[in-house]
Amino acid sequence: MTDQAKELEKLTQIRTEALSVLADVRDEEALEAWRVANLGRSSPVMHVFSSLGQLDKELRPLMGQAANEVRTALEAALEEKQHLLKEAALRKALETEQLDVTMPGRPVERGRLHPLTQVLRRITRIFGDMGFQVYHSPEVETDDYNFTYLNMPPYHPARDMWDTFYTKDEGVLLRTHTSPGQIRVMRERAPEPIRVILPGATMRYEQLSARSEIEFAQVEVLVVGEGVTFAELKGTLEDFARRLFGEDARTRLRPSHFPFTEPSAEMDVGCFVCGGEGCAVCKETGWLEILGCGMVHPVVLEYGGYDPLVYSGFAAGMGIDRSTLMRYRIDDIRHFRNNDIRFLRQF
Ligand code: PHE
Repeated sequence: MTDQAKELEKLTQIRTEALSVLADVRDEEALEAWRVANLGRSSPVMHVFSSLGQLDKELRPLMGQAANEVRTALEAALEEKQHLLKEAALRKALETEQLDVTMPGRPVERGRLHPLTQVLRRITRIFGDMGFQVYHSPEVETDDYNFTYLNMPPYHPARDMWDTFYTKDEGVLLRTHTSPGQIRVMRERAPEPIRVILPGATMRYEQLSARSEIEFAQVEVLVVGEGVTFAELKGTLEDFARRLFGEDARTRLRPSHFPFTEPSAEMDVGCFVCGGEGCAVCKETGWLEILGCGMVHPVVLEYGGYDPLVYSGFAAGMGIDRSTLMRYRIDDIRHFRNNDIRFLRQF
């Protein structure tokens, strides 16, 4: 055998042996060991490369090329094996680590609606059933909308009924009631008839106590059209009270005063705690005040864009925090906006 043939035979052997060992490799670890042994720096093929210099000059290129072919073949075999092992591992994982999709999931804690939201939704629903639309108006208002257009020009003493938060912007304040929304709806709808409620947050600058918060929720009621009478105010509000407090809820209207309604009244409902006999909640009167109301004042209609000689209307405004307090016998109004989960869970 010539030297050349001998050397080539050696390379063939290296290749055959390496490939036969590779055929038995079963895991990644063994594969890595195989790589080091057969393609690493001190592997047989690499040894052929480093000893090329000792060969005859004519033999060198031939041997170099042959060694290169062997190395490339081994690298390709390595890559293929890596691929096979990965696939096998995946197949095995799919078989053994089965996912049980029937297993019950982790329970998701279910929240609930805030008691005020619950009451607000009941009220909205009742008025919705009676054909009212819901209208939203801004919580940050101008002095004009909150007072002037409601028949309380600057320096009008009635402004003292509402303790107000003013902003640094001249004439901009936090609304003290939802009544400014009356003007906004009228200006948008005039001269169309109106039948809306306006729910939302209202703010007053108050001494905090168990009965007073600086923020509370109100629902405004507004009806405007031709020939709207006080009888309709009474009928609508009494019907509303019965739907909210129960079929046999008793109501009464007491004369009152608001600058933006004339005549004005307040509506009481028979105390739902004692049933009218007198208790601490109703202060022994048997009655609970639930809203202020009246016929929309001509000046207000005019500010809204309605001719008071042609149109009339009624309005009402109720704070829902107090009645919710009483209904659930909550001892402190401040619980509503403390976000204490122990309190909220009870509803
Ligand atoms: N805005 C009045 C208040 O907050 C309530 C009210 C509304 C009275 C509409 C009459 C008509 O006290």
